[in-house]
Amino acid sequence: MPLLELQDITKVYHLGDVEVNALVGVNLSIEEKEYVSIMGPSGSGKSTLLNIIGCLDLPSSGTYKLNDKHVESMNDMELSSSRNAMIGFVFQGFHLLSNLSALGNVELPLIYRGIPRNQRKELSEKALEKVGLKDRTKHLPTQLSGGQQQRVAIARALVTDPKLILADEPTGALDSHTGESIMHLFQELNNDLGVTIIQVTHDANVSEYGKKTFHMMDGKIEKIESNSGLIGGNR
Ligand SMILES: Nc1ncnc2c1ncn2[C@@H]1O[C@H](COP(=O)(O)OP(=O)(O)OP(=O)(O)O)[C@@H](O)[C@H]1O
Ligand SMILES: [Mg+2]
Repeated sequence: MPLLELQDITKVYHLGDVEVNALVGVNLSIEEKEYVSIMGPSGSGKSTLLNIIGCLDLPSSGTYKLNDKHVESMNDMELSSSRNAMIGFVFQGFHLLSNLSALGNVELPLIYRGIPRNQRKELSEKALEKVGLKDRTKHLPTQLSGGQQQRVAIARALVTDPKLILADEPTGALDSHTGESIMHLFQELNNDLGVTIIQVTHDANVSEYGKKTFHMMDGKIEKIESNSGLIGGNR
């Protein structure tokens, strides 16, 4: 059984009289423990697709099964609980709260889950340790480098022990060296912890870390490419 299965997914945005067909019939199936990349020109629908996969938004039509449950028939409560239970998000630009320390940011999803303080601290410290930031827990985002901020965002995605990580341009704001270290971290998460990863990227080098690349064009998946295996130890 695939972890997620999308059939004939469309997404239409209505802006006054104008209709934007952001997705026009996407079919996609991703197995547990897969690591895949999504590429495509600006405006081709990548973020829209990721938001639907992440239950942040509903499709206009089509069927989406996540972990064998139909997402399109879920209400808001069910959507947010599937999201909280199994998905970690890593956004471009990090989305960290500037008045909270690294630890405070990583704790946030645990607060939403009602996890008690001591346990929160312990889990968050562990997640920061996993991303190599054990000695930066008290730093505010402004006191961290771009790569470190992205690592905090990854720790925040990891702290709930998600089955699935969705990353929109996880290296987009980073120099290539720092980007590479983030990719190594993703590889470890995939290889060692079996986390399923779907990443959107503009960068062909970054896309190579996934086992496959879905190429999007005008709201559709145009082609699926199997990656060379030159990068990564899990092929
Ligand atoms: N909330 C919205 N309302 C109206 N149109 C939208 C909305 N969000 C996205 N769109 C449109 O849908 C299309 C797909 O947008 P999307 O953000 O998915 O593209 P993308 O592939 O992620 O692009 P980029 O690489 O620039 O991030 C675009 O034409 C965009 O203008
Ligand atoms: Mg986008």
